Amino acid sequence: MTINAHGGELINRLITGQEREDLLNLVPFLPQIKVNTWAISDIDLIGVGAFSPLTGFLNEDDYKSVVEDMRLANGTVWSIPITLGVEKDIARKLEIGKQVALIGEQDGVPYAIIQVESVYDVDQSFEAEQVFKTSENEHPGVQKLYTKPSTYVGGDIQVLNRPKPQKFNEFYFDPIETRALFQEKGWKSVCGFQTRNPVHRAHEYIQKSAMEIVDGLFLNPLVGETKSDDISADVRMRSYLVLLENYYPQDRVHLGVFPAAMRYAGPREAIFHALVRKNYGCTHFIVGRDHAGVGDYYGTYEAQEIFSQFTSEEIGITPLFFEHSFYCKKCGNMASSKTCPHDKIEHLHLSGTKVRAMLREGNCPPPEFSRPEVAKVLIEGMSENLVSSN
Ligand code: ADX
Repeated sequence: MTINAHGGELINRLITGQEREDLLNLVPFLPQIKVNTWAISDIDLIGVGAFSPLTGFLNEDDYKSVVEDMRLANGTVWSIPITLGVEKDIARKLEIGKQVALIGEQDGVPYAIIQVESVYDVDQSFEAEQVFKTSENEHPGVQKLYTKPSTYVGGDIQVLNRPKPQKFNEFYFDPIETRALFQEKGWKSVCGFQTRNPVHRAHEYIQKSAMEIVDGLFLNPLVGETKSDDISADVRMRSYLVLLENYYPQDRVHLGVFPAAMRYAGPREAIFHALVRKNYGCTHFIVGRDHAGVGDYYGTYEAQEIFSQFTSEEIGITPLFFEHSFYCKKCGNMASSKTCPHDKIEHLHLSGTKVRAMLREGNCPPPEFSRPEVAKVLIEGMSENLVSSN
């Protein structure tokens, strides 16, 4: 028995066989909306049920309800609006109830057909305040939101084509596949781990603490769009592979990518990340310090506190909260304020900026911060990036 998908049923909007052929033949006769990489990733994640119970882009009622109350109009918890922006001149021509083809703006591929349910104008600064707790353009999620047209089209989608992974093809698994895999491995409890960074010792510590109480770990790095100064997915994947090879029991970890875009919405994104991992079949989900945060926009534990606004039945996956963890020189191991009595001066603290600077100069961060094998991959990755950007 695997855990139920959010809303009860794992959604499948992938169209195959003759039905797909018929719809593809219809595409040239339909109005078109051009979709960018971000929208294509949303289409795909809706299609495979990672965003269950969503069956398409949010209609106006669901949008309002998600933005204001973190729930779909029917009351189901949903914290991040999944929306399709469309330029006003195109929106004007759309008719409710009609089909529209969603075409890749770069490759011309028909990714899906949307059945238009509503076309609506939104106040994006209000959406930003609600979802990101700021309307400042400096926030990377808000900045991204403002690049989207402020007219949205909602409706169910039928997915006709899927984006092709450029690399690490073997680490792409749909929810239906991870669910089967976890069952095959006999894992009754599986803890999901979201990350957009190379795994450092604090990550390893909280993952392994979780592994003491669950059957398996699903290391599920996000590889969709991230902000430009985050380390590339390619380099990160190489760092995860050396880490797993050298420091993890192979039969208790499964590495699979999460091909979604990063929103940097802190607390709301933590809820979203947890619900989506439930759809992949996880029973537990790690939320540490400043989960999905950026800059100083969110309090260190806000992404944990937000879970208290919902009942555990409404969330349906068990969040595992971890304090800020660090290496303590006096303890001689990883710890947090829950387990270490020593003064801050004994704790090793390195900012992301400092670590990046060390790596760029070819210096390994101390082994108490990063496994040397991981640091080596990162240094190599940094020098490749420097070479390619010169
Ligand atoms: S995130 O944006 O994907 O959340 P990151 O990859 O840094 O960023 O974090 C992955 C997970 O590890 C998150 O749940 C985060 O809260 C947690 N985390 C990161 N660093 C620490 C730390 N030092 N102590 C405790 N939890 C941490």
